[in-house]
Amino acid sequence: MEKLLIRGGKRLSGNVKVSGAKNAAVAVIPAVLLTDEICIIDNLPYIDDVIVLKNILSELGAKVSLSPNGRMVIDPSSVKRYIANSEEVKKMRASYYLLGALLGRGGYAEVAFPGGCEIGARPIDQHIKGFESLGVHVDIESGSIRARADKLIGNDVYLDVISVGATINIMLASVRAEGTTTIVNAAKEPHVVDVANFLNAMGANIKGAGTDTIKIKGVERLSGCHYTIIPDQIEAGTFMIAAAATNGDVLIKDVIPKHLEAISAKLVEMGVDIMEGDDNIRVRGCNRLKSVNIKTLPYPGFPTDLQQPMSVLLSIAEGNSVITENVWESRYKHIEEICKMGANVKIEDRVAIIKGVPSLKGAPVAASDLRAGAALIVAGLIADGVTEISNVQYIDRGYECIEGKLISLGADIKRIDDMGRIIPTKKSAAVI
Ligand code: EPU
Repeated sequence: MEKLLIRGGKRLSGNVKVSGAKNAAVAVIPAVLLTDEICIIDNLPYIDDVIVLKNILSELGAKVSLSPNGRMVIDPSSVKRYIANSEEVKKMRASYYLLGALLGRGGYAEVAFPGGCEIGARPIDQHIKGFESLGVHVDIESGSIRARADKLIGNDVYLDVISVGATINIMLASVRAEGTTTIVNAAKEPHVVDVANFLNAMGANIKGAGTDTIKIKGVERLSGCHYTIIPDQIEAGTFMIAAAATNGDVLIKDVIPKHLEAISAKLVEMGVDIMEGDDNIRVRGCNRLKSVNIKTLPYPGFPTDLQQPMSVLLSIAEGNSVITENVWESRYKHIEEICKMGANVKIEDRVAIIKGVPSLKGAPVAASDLRAGAALIVAGLIADGVTEISNVQYIDRGYECIEGKLISLGADIKRIDDMGRIIPTKKSAAVI
């Protein structure tokens, strides 16, 4: 098991380039199964979740290559298998997109229950409700979901909760269905729009992605295409928080500033200086951060995926801050860890009450999930002394070469193996 060792107290400065969006990538890659033609996808983040999906598509019979510069070339013409139940499938939450993609390809899918981060109950009832509305019969048996339909027929689907996964999965299943599907109360996240754009580039007819009503007119066939994934909103937000936390001055490049408005607004409220360019954001810290209150919400609200890093920033702000986590019921596992580093936080159900302290102290801590890991990195960057973060595998699932990028901004970070030997920092195509 690898660990990160961070000696805190360095101000981050310089330029950093953001990689492609993880949560778009993990849907776009399975979506290729909707055609028999070659697709070329650029700007994929070179992260473990993408590598796992490459392996899953190969197991299904596709020919796939992935280069470290983020290009994946997929030829799905030889896919004959509709059963995905390997250990690779069980590793990740987003393997549920294989259900929609395989159903759309051939009307059948058998997929092992998805794994992923432990951040609360992660039901898929809305995905199933959507499939059933399209005429799919769904059975759940011994750890697998089996879905089959003689014919997929478009229908209206009203989502009871706003769900990114259900919105995308219903788009995947309905894009080649007969007739029109309307998703009402759809998720509006940038990656939902990116997946719709990808499907339209393949010849689909999807309108309204990015609003709460999406209309999908079924088409008979989809073709191959060449597509570039959008930048990762959450990785960009993590760097913004890290820059503010170290009172740094960082230009974050290759971003879509509109996607970052909720986080920019909160940082400005805290006293941080934010300058938006066309495709970049400059973040300049301040000497004394002000406390703010945060409620996580679906897009365009404050993203739950940045709640954990943000709570670390608030732990050193002046005064009391209150966070209300409205999306996931168990996304505070990092709080116990940052309290070991001197933070003063009380959790009451979905609310975290944070009393700002002047500084944090380095300590051995463990990541419990991907964004908890990102939060602990931010804590390590701030803290006096050395912070040792274990369970780094969670972080590698979703951040491309995180320590390489932070080192390029002046951070003092090393990766060690379980014998304490230093592992050379991986080079990322995105490190400049
Ligand atoms: N929900 C249901 N029923 C469903 C689906 C969802 O009740 O059938 C509930 C969930 O329990 C949750 C809420 O609806 O309370 C939102 O869940 P959603 O379906 O939107 O989440 P997801 O699609 O499983 C994606 C991201 C998460 C991110 C959430 C919210 C991927 C692979 N994952 O998850 O990202 O937190 O949307 O924005 O896209 C991360 O990147 O660290 C991460 C966890």
